[in-house]
Amino acid sequence: MHQAIQMSDTLWYLGSSDRRLAKFENCHPVPLGISYNSYLVMDEKTVLLDTVDHSICGVFLENIKSVLNGRPLDYIIVNHMEPDHCATLAEVLLRYPEATVVGSAKTHAMIKQFFGDLNLQGKVMQVKENDTLSTGHHNFRFILAPMVHWPEVTVTYDETEKILFSADAFGTFGALSGNLYADQLDFGDFELSEMRRYYSNIVGKYGLQVQALLNKAAGLDIQMICPLHGPVWRAANKIQWLIEKYSRWATYRPEDNEVVIFYASIYGGTENAAEVLANALGAKKVKNIKMYDVSVTDVSYLVSEAFRASHLVFASATYNNEIFPYMENLIRDLAAHNVQNRSIALVENGSWAPVSGKKMSELFSSMKNMNFLQDTVTLKSRGHEEQRLQLLSLADTIAESVFAAELH
Ligand SMILES: Cc1cc2nc3c(=O)[nH]c(=O)nc-3n(C[C@H](O)[C@H](O)[C@H](O)COP(=O)(O)O)c2cc1C
Ligand SMILES: [Fe+2]
Ligand SMILES: [Fe+2]
Repeated sequence: MHQAIQMSDTLWYLGSSDRRLAKFENCHPVPLGISYNSYLVMDEKTVLLDTVDHSICGVFLENIKSVLNGRPLDYIIVNHMEPDHCATLAEVLLRYPEATVVGSAKTHAMIKQFFGDLNLQGKVMQVKENDTLSTGHHNFRFILAPMVHWPEVTVTYDETEKILFSADAFGTFGALSGNLYADQLDFGDFELSEMRRYYSNIVGKYGLQVQALLNKAAGLDIQMICPLHGPVWRAANKIQWLIEKYSRWATYRPEDNEVVIFYASIYGGTENAAEVLANALGAKKVKNIKMYDVSVTDVSYLVSEAFRASHLVFASATYNNEIFPYMENLIRDLAAHNVQNRSIALVENGSWAPVSGKKMSELFSSMKNMNFLQDTVTLKSRGHEEQRLQLLSLADTIAESVFAAELH
């Protein structure tokens, strides 16, 4: 049976959730599942905004059929051509061959790439920045949002209902469970951390492009944001809060003046140093210190933590003359996501020729505005009194810096 949700006289939610998927993009764990959102506007003409992932194709087709209730499908607006949204486009066109497909030039080029044998002759509407489509009562305006999250992305603004269909922007990990709207959820720290993990790992790299979209959005009266993942945003205070979060993340400004210690340890010597440092920070009254064994916690959570906190410590054993692999993977991922403007400190370990500190600092040197707080602390196998004192001194420096830092 269909599970479409009516949102207004003319707007319907046609998406659903996948709680079986292990890793989104076969990369990021989604223990709470993921929703794929699609919307249908029932105007004089009918308009579908994006399709969905293959995993929910069956119910999606049932949703469309039930809401259209015998009417033709006039338009399909394709805001994003990534298969988590467009995989079912051909299935929809098979059933509604009358539909005109609306998208940017790059979108249409990608449709050909993904669906080579799809004949869309006479059914293509190519849109540029600020082009509009009137469907009777509704007037849709198209706004290019390249690299939020792929180059072809557009967002669509419904000028009539003042709704921004925002593609991947403003999305979050986590299935929808009956509460379609963010204002029906507490949206506490836990939900925020999943939204941050989505943002940082999916679009975190493209801060400049997200800023460009935010600037365009600032000129619009937005009463509702309908993203392609996660809940719909409609309360004015929630929308403002959401945009402030995005603006902070897009400019790589930390949210919390707090310390996160990432460590990579085989036999416990490096871990021991990380614990000594954390305890010394705690004794200095630094609050909410977080520690992660990078071999244990999935890197998507670690990237998210680096987007959140102002002070980051990286402690790693040397492994075959390199940084320990999980730590190297983390730092390369941070660089790939353009993490910048952080205060950092390094701890290295090695039994004969420790090089992890030097190699870590080389990776950080390619990143913008990473401020080394103190020289690398070096352990040879395990820490001794000399290293304990160095770690206490490092804790002093970090604590001072945390207390002096202001959030901008
Ligand atoms: C597979 C392997 C490769 C290693 N390669 C190096 C190395 O190239 N240089 C070095 O100084 N130590 C090397 N080590 C030794 C560890 O870096 C060293 O024992 C360190 O103290 C381990 O820290 P942990 O107690 O936190 O695991 C290697 C250890 C292992 C298991
Ligand atoms: Fe995407
Ligand atoms: Fe997506």
